[in-house]
Amino acid sequence: MTPIQEQLLETLSDGELHSGTTLGDSLGVSRAAIWKQIQALQSIGVEIYSENRHGYRLSAPVTFLDEQEIRSRLSVEATQCLPHIDMVWSCDSTNSELMRNLHDGASSGAVLLAEHQVAGRGRRGKEWVSPFGGSLYLSLLWKFSGGPMVLSGLGIVVGIAMATVLNRSWLSGVQLKWPNDLYFQNQKLGGILIDLEGESEGPTSAVIGIGLNVNVSQAAGGRIKQPWTSLSEQLDSVPSRNELAAALLNEVVEVLNRFESEGLESLTPEWDQLDMVRDHHVLLELEGKRVAGVARGIDQLGALLVESGGAVSRYFSGDVSLRIQQNKR
Ligand code: BTN
Repeated sequence: MTPIQEQLLETLSDGELHSGTTLGDSLGVSRAAIWKQIQALQSIGVEIYSENRHGYRLSAPVTFLDEQEIRSRLSVEATQCLPHIDMVWSCDSTNSELMRNLHDGASSGAVLLAEHQVAGRGRRGKEWVSPFGGSLYLSLLWKFSGGPMVLSGLGIVVGIAMATVLNRSWLSGVQLKWPNDLYFQNQKLGGILIDLEGESEGPTSAVIGIGLNVNVSQAAGGRIKQPWTSLSEQLDSVPSRNELAAALLNEVVEVLNRFESEGLESLTPEWDQLDMVRDHHVLLELEGKRVAGVARGIDQLGALLVESGGAVSRYFSGDVSLRIQQNKR
Protein backbone atom coordinates (compact mmCIF):
# COMPACT_ATOMS: atom_id res chain seq x y z
CA MET A 1 0.00 0.00 0.00
CA THR A 2 1.38 3.44 -0.93
CA PRO A 3 1.71 6.30 1.62
CA ILE A 4 -1.02 8.20 -0.20
CA GLN A 5 -3.37 5.24 0.06
CA GLU A 6 -2.62 5.00 3.78
CA GLN A 7 -3.39 8.71 4.25
CA LEU A 8 -6.60 8.31 2.27
CA LEU A 9 -7.69 5.46 4.50
CA GLU A 10 -6.85 7.44 7.65
CA THR A 11 -9.11 10.24 6.40
CA LEU A 12 -11.92 7.95 5.30
CA SER A 13 -11.78 5.89 8.52
CA ASP A 14 -14.48 8.11 10.11
CA GLY A 15 -17.04 6.59 7.73
CA GLU A 16 -18.11 10.11 6.62
CA LEU A 17 -18.44 11.37 3.07
CA HIS A 18 -15.34 13.21 1.74
CA SER A 19 -15.32 14.98 -1.60
CA GLY A 20 -12.60 14.24 -4.14
CA THR A 21 -11.60 17.90 -4.08
CA THR A 22 -11.21 18.04 -0.29
CA LEU A 23 -9.25 14.80 -0.30
CA GLY A 24 -7.06 16.03 -3.15
CA ASP A 25 -6.40 19.35 -1.39
CA SER A 26 -5.50 17.73 1.91
CA LEU A 27 -3.16 15.22 0.27
CA GLY A 28 -1.72 17.65 -2.24
CA VAL A 29 -2.81 15.77 -5.38
CA SER A 30 -5.47 16.21 -8.07
CA ARG A 31 -9.03 14.88 -7.91
CA ALA A 32 -8.15 12.51 -10.74
CA ALA A 33 -5.22 11.14 -8.72
CA ILE A 34 -7.56 10.54 -5.79
CA TRP A 35 -9.95 8.65 -8.06
CA LYS A 36 -7.07 6.46 -9.27
CA GLN A 37 -6.01 5.64 -5.70
CA ILE A 38 -9.60 4.92 -4.70
CA GLN A 39 -9.87 2.45 -7.57
CA ALA A 40 -6.61 0.81 -6.54
CA LEU A 41 -7.92 0.40 -2.99
CA GLN A 42 -11.25 -0.96 -4.23
CA SER A 43 -9.38 -3.50 -6.35
CA ILE A 44 -7.80 -4.99 -3.19
CA GLY A 45 -11.20 -5.27 -1.56
CA VAL A 46 -11.47 -2.04 0.44
CA GLU A 47 -15.17 -1.21 0.46
CA ILE A 48 -15.18 2.46 -0.58
CA TYR A 49 -18.39 3.83 -2.01
CA SER A 50 -18.44 6.76 -4.38
CA GLU A 51 -21.62 8.77 -4.09
CA ASN A 52 -22.74 10.41 -7.32
CA ARG A 53 -20.00 13.00 -7.64
CA HIS A 54 -20.40 14.00 -3.98
CA GLY A 55 -17.40 12.05 -2.78
CA TYR A 56 -16.23 8.87 -1.15
CA ARG A 57 -16.88 7.05 2.06
CA LEU A 58 -16.06 3.71 3.66
CA SER A 59 -18.91 1.24 4.17
CA ALA A 60 -18.53 1.80 7.94
CA PRO A 61 -16.17 3.69 10.28
CA VAL A 62 -12.99 1.77 11.06
CA THR A 63 -10.76 1.95 14.13
CA PHE A 64 -7.39 0.90 12.83
CA LEU A 65 -5.09 -1.54 14.53
CA ASP A 66 -2.73 0.22 16.87
CA GLU A 67 0.30 -1.29 18.52
CA GLN A 68 0.27 1.09 21.52
CA GLU A 69 -3.41 0.45 22.13
CA ILE A 70 -2.83 -3.31 22.08
CA ARG A 71 0.25 -3.05 24.31
CA SER A 72 -1.59 -0.95 26.87
CA ARG A 73 -4.03 -3.84 27.40
CA LEU A 74 -1.49 -6.67 27.71
CA SER A 75 -0.99 -8.66 30.90
CA VAL A 76 2.41 -8.63 32.61
CA GLU A 77 3.04 -12.17 31.32
CA ALA A 78 2.17 -11.25 27.72
CA THR A 79 4.20 -8.04 27.88
CA GLN A 80 7.23 -10.08 28.93
CA CYS A 81 6.72 -12.72 26.26
CA LEU A 82 5.89 -10.44 23.29
CA PRO A 83 8.87 -8.19 22.53
CA HIS A 84 7.66 -7.04 19.10
CA ILE A 85 4.15 -6.23 17.93
CA ASP A 86 4.07 -4.96 14.35
CA MET A 87 1.16 -3.86 12.25
CA VAL A 88 1.05 -3.62 8.45
CA TRP A 89 -1.69 -2.21 6.25
CA SER A 90 -1.52 -5.06 3.80
CA CYS A 91 0.55 -8.16 3.12
CA ASP A 92 0.13 -11.48 1.34
CA SER A 93 -0.44 -13.42 4.56
CA THR A 94 0.69 -12.54 8.09
CA ASN A 95 1.84 -16.16 8.48
CA SER A 96 3.98 -16.00 5.33
CA GLU A 97 5.39 -12.60 6.30
CA LEU A 98 6.27 -13.76 9.82
CA MET A 99 7.89 -16.91 8.42
CA ARG A 100 10.09 -14.64 6.26
CA ASN A 101 10.86 -12.54 9.35
CA LEU A 102 11.86 -15.74 11.15
CA HIS A 103 14.42 -16.42 8.42
CA ASP A 104 15.68 -12.86 8.94
CA GLY A 105 16.20 -13.52 12.66
CA ALA A 106 12.85 -12.63 14.30
CA SER A 107 12.69 -13.72 17.93
CA SER A 108 10.11 -15.79 19.77
CA GLY A 109 7.08 -13.73 20.70
CA ALA A 110 7.08 -11.58 17.54
CA VAL A 111 3.52 -10.62 16.59
CA LEU A 112 2.29 -9.34 13.25
CA LEU A 113 -1.16 -7.96 12.48
CA ALA A 114 -2.54 -6.76 9.15
CA GLU A 115 -5.54 -4.69 8.10
CA HIS A 116 -5.77 -6.71 4.92
CA GLN A 117 -4.30 -9.88 3.41
CA VAL A 118 -3.95 -10.26 -0.33
CA ALA A 119 -3.44 -14.01 -0.10
CA GLY A 120 -4.79 -15.06 3.31
CA ARG A 121 -4.31 -18.78 3.84
CA GLY A 122 -6.64 -21.23 5.54
CA ARG A 123 -5.99 -24.84 6.46
CA ARG A 124 -5.61 -27.47 3.78
CA GLY A 125 -4.57 -24.99 1.08
CA LYS A 126 -7.82 -23.04 1.23
CA GLU A 127 -8.12 -19.29 0.84
CA TRP A 128 -8.87 -17.22 3.96
CA VAL A 129 -11.05 -14.35 2.80
CA SER A 130 -9.40 -11.25 4.32
CA PRO A 131 -11.32 -8.03 3.61
CA PHE A 132 -9.73 -4.75 4.64
CA GLY A 133 -10.31 -3.73 8.26
CA GLY A 134 -13.00 -6.35 8.69
CA SER A 135 -11.30 -8.84 10.88
CA LEU A 136 -8.33 -9.86 12.91
CA TYR A 137 -5.44 -11.30 10.95
CA LEU A 138 -2.80 -11.98 13.56
CA SER A 139 0.28 -14.19 13.58
CA LEU A 140 2.53 -15.02 16.49
CA LEU A 141 5.98 -16.60 16.32
CA TRP A 142 6.75 -19.01 19.16
CA LYS A 143 9.91 -21.08 19.48
CA PHE A 144 9.65 -24.48 21.19
CA SER A 145 12.46 -26.74 22.33
CA GLY A 146 10.59 -29.91 21.26
CA GLY A 147 10.00 -31.38 17.80
CA PRO A 148 6.86 -31.14 15.63
CA MET A 149 5.37 -34.37 17.04
CA VAL A 150 5.15 -32.86 20.53
CA LEU A 151 3.42 -29.87 18.95
CA SER A 152 0.58 -31.80 17.34
CA GLY A 153 -1.78 -30.38 19.99
CA LEU A 154 -0.69 -26.78 19.44
CA GLY A 155 -3.69 -25.79 17.32
CA ILE A 156 -5.97 -27.30 19.93
CA VAL A 157 -4.55 -25.19 22.75
CA VAL A 158 -4.66 -21.97 20.72
CA GLY A 159 -8.28 -22.77 19.79
CA ILE A 160 -9.07 -23.24 23.48
CA ALA A 161 -7.55 -19.84 24.23
CA MET A 162 -9.59 -18.10 21.52
CA ALA A 163 -12.89 -19.71 22.44
CA THR A 164 -12.31 -19.09 26.15
CA VAL A 165 -11.71 -15.37 25.61
CA LEU A 166 -14.79 -14.95 23.42
CA ASN A 167 -17.06 -16.97 25.70
CA ARG A 168 -15.85 -15.19 28.82
CA SER A 169 -16.09 -11.61 27.61
CA TRP A 170 -18.21 -11.24 24.50
CA LEU A 171 -20.12 -14.10 22.95
CA SER A 172 -21.12 -17.09 24.95
CA GLY A 173 -21.69 -20.30 22.97
CA VAL A 174 -18.50 -20.30 20.86
CA GLN A 175 -17.40 -23.89 20.24
CA LEU A 176 -14.45 -25.65 18.66
CA LYS A 177 -14.54 -28.08 15.79
CA TRP A 178 -11.50 -30.31 15.79
CA PRO A 179 -8.75 -29.50 15.22
CA ASN A 180 -9.09 -25.74 15.62
CA ASP A 181 -12.05 -24.09 13.94
CA LEU A 182 -14.16 -21.64 15.92
CA TYR A 183 -17.90 -21.94 15.41
CA PHE A 184 -20.94 -20.12 16.69
CA GLN A 185 -24.27 -21.80 16.06
CA ASN A 186 -22.77 -24.01 13.34
CA GLN A 187 -21.31 -21.05 11.48
CA LYS A 188 -17.60 -20.46 11.19
CA LEU A 189 -16.35 -17.51 13.21
CA GLY A 190 -12.60 -18.03 13.08
CA GLY A 191 -9.74 -20.38 12.49
CA ILE A 192 -6.10 -21.11 13.17
CA LEU A 193 -3.30 -21.96 10.78
CA ILE A 194 0.02 -23.20 12.10
CA ASP A 195 3.21 -23.26 10.05
CA LEU A 196 6.07 -25.22 11.60
CA GLU A 197 9.76 -25.22 10.85
CA GLY A 198 12.52 -27.11 12.60
CA GLU A 199 14.26 -30.40 13.26
CA SER A 200 12.39 -33.63 13.97
CA GLU A 201 13.81 -33.73 17.52
CA GLY A 202 13.46 -29.95 17.97
CA PRO A 203 13.84 -27.06 18.30
CA THR A 204 10.77 -25.99 16.33
CA SER A 205 9.56 -22.54 15.35
CA ALA A 206 5.80 -22.19 15.04
CA VAL A 207 4.01 -19.38 13.30
CA ILE A 208 0.53 -19.40 14.79
CA GLY A 209 -1.97 -17.61 12.57
CA ILE A 210 -5.29 -16.47 13.98
CA GLY A 211 -8.21 -15.30 11.86
CA LEU A 212 -11.35 -13.97 13.54
CA ASN A 213 -14.35 -12.54 11.69
CA VAL A 214 -15.09 -9.27 13.44
CA ASN A 215 -16.80 -6.91 11.00
CA VAL A 216 -17.17 -8.94 7.83
CA SER A 217 -19.82 -7.39 5.59
CA GLN A 218 -22.26 -9.52 3.63
CA ALA A 219 -20.57 -8.29 0.43
CA ALA A 220 -17.13 -9.49 1.51
CA GLY A 221 -18.49 -12.62 3.17
CA GLY A 222 -20.07 -13.66 -0.12
CA ARG A 223 -16.70 -15.10 -1.05
CA ILE A 224 -16.56 -17.44 1.97
CA LYS A 225 -17.43 -20.93 0.81
CA GLN A 226 -19.18 -22.21 3.93
CA PRO A 227 -21.72 -20.97 6.48
CA TRP A 228 -19.99 -18.15 8.37
CA THR A 229 -20.66 -15.47 10.89
CA SER A 230 -18.92 -12.44 12.26
CA LEU A 231 -18.99 -10.81 15.72
CA SER A 232 -20.80 -7.85 14.15
CA GLU A 233 -23.65 -10.17 13.19
CA GLN A 234 -24.01 -11.51 16.73
CA LEU A 235 -23.30 -8.53 18.99
CA ASP A 236 -24.99 -5.14 19.36
CA SER A 237 -21.73 -3.62 20.43
CA VAL A 238 -18.62 -5.02 18.76
CA PRO A 239 -15.34 -4.71 20.68
CA SER A 240 -12.51 -2.96 18.87
CA ARG A 241 -10.01 -5.20 17.14
CA ASN A 242 -7.31 -3.75 19.40
CA GLU A 243 -9.22 -4.88 22.47
CA LEU A 244 -9.82 -8.30 20.93
CA ALA A 245 -6.20 -8.69 19.84
CA ALA A 246 -4.91 -7.86 23.33
CA ALA A 247 -7.36 -10.22 25.05
CA LEU A 248 -6.48 -13.04 22.64
CA LEU A 249 -2.75 -12.48 23.04
CA ASN A 250 -3.06 -12.50 26.85
CA GLU A 251 -4.88 -15.82 26.80
CA VAL A 252 -2.77 -17.41 24.05
CA VAL A 253 0.47 -16.57 25.89
CA GLU A 254 -0.94 -18.06 29.09
CA VAL A 255 -2.02 -21.33 27.44
CA LEU A 256 1.21 -21.62 25.46
CA ASN A 257 3.23 -21.36 28.66
CA ARG A 258 0.94 -23.93 30.28
CA PHE A 259 1.21 -26.21 27.24
CA GLU A 260 5.01 -26.02 27.36
CA SER A 261 5.25 -26.79 31.06
CA GLU A 262 2.37 -29.25 31.54
CA GLY A 263 1.51 -30.58 28.05
CA LEU A 264 -1.89 -30.84 26.43
CA GLU A 265 -3.25 -33.08 29.16
CA SER A 266 -3.80 -30.17 31.54
CA LEU A 267 -6.03 -28.51 28.93
CA THR A 268 -8.15 -31.46 27.80
CA PRO A 269 -10.97 -30.77 30.30
CA GLU A 270 -11.31 -27.33 28.70
CA TRP A 271 -11.37 -28.91 25.25
CA ASP A 272 -14.12 -31.28 26.34
CA GLN A 273 -16.30 -28.31 27.34
CA LEU A 274 -15.82 -26.64 23.96
CA ASP A 275 -15.81 -29.66 21.64
CA MET A 276 -18.71 -29.37 19.18
CA VAL A 277 -18.29 -32.81 17.59
CA ARG A 278 -18.04 -35.06 20.61
CA ASP A 279 -20.58 -37.91 20.41
CA HIS A 280 -21.73 -36.76 16.99
CA HIS A 281 -21.64 -38.89 13.87
CA VAL A 282 -18.79 -37.59 11.75
CA LEU A 283 -17.31 -38.18 8.35
CA LEU A 284 -13.53 -37.91 7.92
CA GLU A 285 -11.79 -37.55 4.61
CA LEU A 286 -8.10 -38.35 4.47
CA GLU A 287 -5.82 -39.34 1.62
CA GLY A 288 -8.80 -39.99 -0.64
CA LYS A 289 -10.45 -42.27 1.95
CA ARG A 290 -13.67 -41.67 3.86
CA VAL A 291 -14.22 -42.85 7.40
CA ALA A 292 -17.60 -42.63 9.14
CA GLY A 293 -17.91 -42.98 12.91
CA VAL A 294 -18.72 -41.29 16.18
CA ALA A 295 -16.33 -38.65 17.57
CA ARG A 296 -15.08 -39.47 21.07
CA GLY A 297 -12.93 -36.47 22.00
CA ILE A 298 -9.14 -36.18 21.75
CA ASP A 299 -6.15 -38.05 23.13
CA GLN A 300 -3.09 -36.65 24.92
CA LEU A 301 -1.47 -35.59 21.63
CA GLY A 302 -4.58 -33.86 20.31
CA ALA A 303 -5.49 -36.65 17.86
CA LEU A 304 -9.21 -37.06 17.22
CA LEU A 305 -10.71 -40.27 18.54
CA VAL A 306 -13.32 -41.82 16.30
CA GLU A 307 -15.29 -44.94 17.13
CA SER A 308 -16.19 -47.02 14.16
CA GLY A 309 -17.16 -50.69 13.96
CA GLY A 310 -16.55 -51.16 17.69
CA ALA A 311 -12.95 -49.88 17.60
CA VAL A 312 -11.58 -46.43 18.39
CA SER A 313 -8.97 -44.99 15.97
CA ARG A 314 -6.84 -41.83 16.28
CA TYR A 315 -6.51 -39.22 13.57
CA PHE A 316 -3.97 -36.40 13.42
CA SER A 317 -5.04 -33.09 11.98
CA GLY A 318 -2.63 -32.84 9.00
CA ASP A 319 -4.77 -33.27 5.94
CA VAL A 320 -7.92 -34.59 7.54
CA SER A 321 -11.22 -32.92 6.75
CA LEU A 322 -13.99 -33.43 9.29
CA ARG A 323 -17.69 -33.07 8.68
CA ILE A 324 -20.48 -33.49 11.18
CA GLN A 325 -23.32 -35.62 9.90
CA GLN A 326 -26.24 -33.43 10.89
CA ASN A 327 -29.39 -35.14 12.18
CA LYS A 328 -27.36 -38.08 13.45
CA ARG A 329 -26.40 -38.25 17.06
C1 BTN B 1 -8.69 -22.02 8.79
O1 BTN B 1 -9.66 -22.10 9.55
O2 BTN B 1 -8.70 -22.55 7.68
C2 BTN B 1 -7.48 -21.27 9.27
C3 BTN B 1 -7.60 -19.79 9.02
C4 BTN B 1 -6.40 -18.99 9.50
C5 BTN B 1 -6.42 -17.57 9.02
C6 BTN B 1 -5.34 -16.74 9.63
S1 BTN B 1 -5.54 -15.02 9.32
C7 BTN B 1 -3.94 -14.71 9.94
C8 BTN B 1 -3.05 -15.81 9.43
N1 BTN B 1 -2.56 -15.50 8.10
C9 BTN B 1 -3.04 -16.33 7.18
O3 BTN B 1 -2.77 -16.30 5.96
N2 BTN B 1 -3.82 -17.26 7.75
C10 BTN B 1 -3.92 -17.06 9.17
